[in-house]
Amino acid sequence: MDKKLARGDIQRYTEIQRYLDVARIASWEAGRIIKKGFSSTQRVEWKDDIDPVTECDREAERVIRETISAHFPEHAILGEEGGENHSNSRIRWIVDPIDGTANFTRHIPLVAVTIGVEIDGELVVGIVNNPIMDEEFYAAKDMGAYRNGERIFVSELASLKKAYIAFGLRREPQLREPMMEAANKLYGDIRTIRRLGCAALSLAYIACGRIDGLSEIGLLPWDMAGGVLILKEAGGEVTNLDGSPFDLDEPTILAGSPPFLEYLISVFKDVKLDFTGTKFGPQ
Ligand code: IPD
Ligand code: CA
Ligand code: CA
Repeated sequence: MDKKLARGDIQRYTEIQRYLDVARIASWEAGRIIKKGFSSTQRVEWKDDIDPVTECDREAERVIRETISAHFPEHAILGEEGGENHSNSRIRWIVDPIDGTANFTRHIPLVAVTIGVEIDGELVVGIVNNPIMDEEFYAAKDMGAYRNGERIFVSELASLKKAYIAFGLRREPQLREPMMEAANKLYGDIRTIRRLGCAALSLAYIACGRIDGLSEIGLLPWDMAGGVLILKEAGGEVTNLDGSPFDLDEPTILAGSPPFLEYLISVFKDVKLDFTGTKFGPQ
C-alpha cells in the first residue's frame, strides 16, 4: 500500500482488523475441541446417506458463535450446523466448524475450521485453521494472506505439465459423469490430480503454492468463504465452473493463479451440470 490513507480508510482497516482478531480467536477455540476429538473415536451421525456429522462439529460451531456474539452481538452468523441468525445485519460471519468431517472421522488430518466475514456482501476476512497440523492461514482484505504469520503467494507455474490440481466430485451420476470427462481431459495436460476432502484447505494450499488449482462442485458458502479471500489476497482468482464471476451462493468453483485459472476455464466451459434434485439445486 503506497497511497496515502484517508481517515475513512483507516477506520475501515481498523474495523476489518478487529474482525480478523476475533475470527482467529474463535478458530483457535474451535481448534482445541477438534484437536482433542481427533485422537478419540467419534460417534458418527449421518445427515443423509453420505454426509457425516459429530458432536465435535456442533461443539466447535457453538464456541465459534459464542465468541463472535460476545464481541458483536448484532452481527449475522451463518453456520453449517446452526443455520443463520440476524440476517438483516450488514456484517455476516460464515462458519464451517469442521471442513473435512469425513477425514476427521477417519483420522485423516486434512481438516480445518474455516470462517469468512463479509461487509455488505464483500469478503473482508478469511480463516482456514488446521489444528491437527498446527497450520493457520488467514487474510484480510487488502492486507495480504499469511500462513503461520508469513506472507504467502500462489505458485508461478512454469509449465502446465507440472501442475497439481485439487478436484472435487459428487456421486450423483448427472454430476459425476461430466466431471469425470473433464478429469480425463485434465489428466492429459497436467501432472496430477489430488482429492483432499477439504475444500477450505484446497484453497489455502493454492494460496501458498503447494498446489496450483482447484475445480470443485457441490459446495456451500461456508466451504468456500474463508479460503476464497485467502486465495485472492495471495494473488489467486476464482470463478464459477463456467468461468462466470464467482458467487458464494453457486455450488461450483474454479480457482488458481490468473493464468492457471484461464486454462481451467477453457477445460470446464462446456461441462454442463444438472443440480436438479440435489441439495444444491432447485428443490
Ligand atoms: C465437505 C468438504 C469436501 C467437499 C464437500 C464438503 P464438510 O465439507 O469440503 O472437500 O468435497 O462437498 O461438503 O461436509 O466436511 O464440512
Ligand atoms: Ca464443509
Ligand atoms: Ca462442516
